[in-house]
Amino acid sequence: MTTDRIVDLTREVSSDDFRGAMRHLVGAVSVVTAGRGDDITGMTVTSVSSLSVDPPTLIISVSRASSTWPLLRRYGHFGVNILNADQLDIAERFAGKGGLKGAERFAGAQWTTRPPGAPLLIGALAAIDCEVEDVIERHSHVIVIGGVCGLKLSGRSSALAYWQGQYVAIDLDEDMVRLAKVSVPSTGIATHTPAITPLPRSAAMTALAERER
Ligand SMILES: Cc1cc2nc3c(=O)[nH]c(=O)nc-3n(C[C@H](O)[C@H](O)[C@H](O)COP(=O)(O)O)c2cc1C
Repeated sequence: MTTDRIVDLTREVSSDDFRGAMRHLVGAVSVVTAGRGDDITGMTVTSVSSLSVDPPTLIISVSRASSTWPLLRRYGHFGVNILNADQLDIAERFAGKGGLKGAERFAGAQWTTRPPGAPLLIGALAAIDCEVEDVIERHSHVIVIGGVCGLKLSGRSSALAYWQGQYVAIDLDEDMVRLAKVSVPSTGIATHTPAITPLPRSAAMTALAERER
């Protein structure tokens, strides 16, 4: 049995209540990169969203305190690399695991660049080259609007997501049957076994994500 907890909306919503609500959002995990040459860094995000298809434009929300924001603002370009389920280690590096900073986070994976753009991850589900179109600084974060200059797709079908404070894998082939049950709800709400596989995570990473968001 589940116990619902009603949050009183007449008072100010606490950070904890808000975080609790946001844990229910399933987020695709991407790495945003910025900079050129050795002056590069990047961060793990779930805040990528399509803004418009014509012209191809997306938005990201990045912390003003992150090391990525200054480079993104200085160079005016960024990369959005949508991770597949095998790239958990990359997600952790770019979330700052082990205290890795800047160019150190890029080690162990292959990157390419389309000058004057930021590094793009070879093997990402999609690697999207963006030019900063506009920024909206609000509270602790900056909403960055990026015009898409180019992209590269891979043939993989597994995605890395973040949900309820942990990384999960979604695989189109393995989860095909269960996904079909979810996506074709002919009568009412489908009851199903979740078609996602929790991935091992470090408690530190979860704590970091919750603290930073
Ligand atoms: C799954 C996940 C999603 C995250 N999403 C965002 C995000 O959308 N925006 C953001 O500012 N930080 C997000 N973070 C936190 C950043 O990855 C983290 O603060 C950043 O890498 C720290 O970088 P820095 O050491 O360069 O400042 C997320 C972390 C995780 C683990």
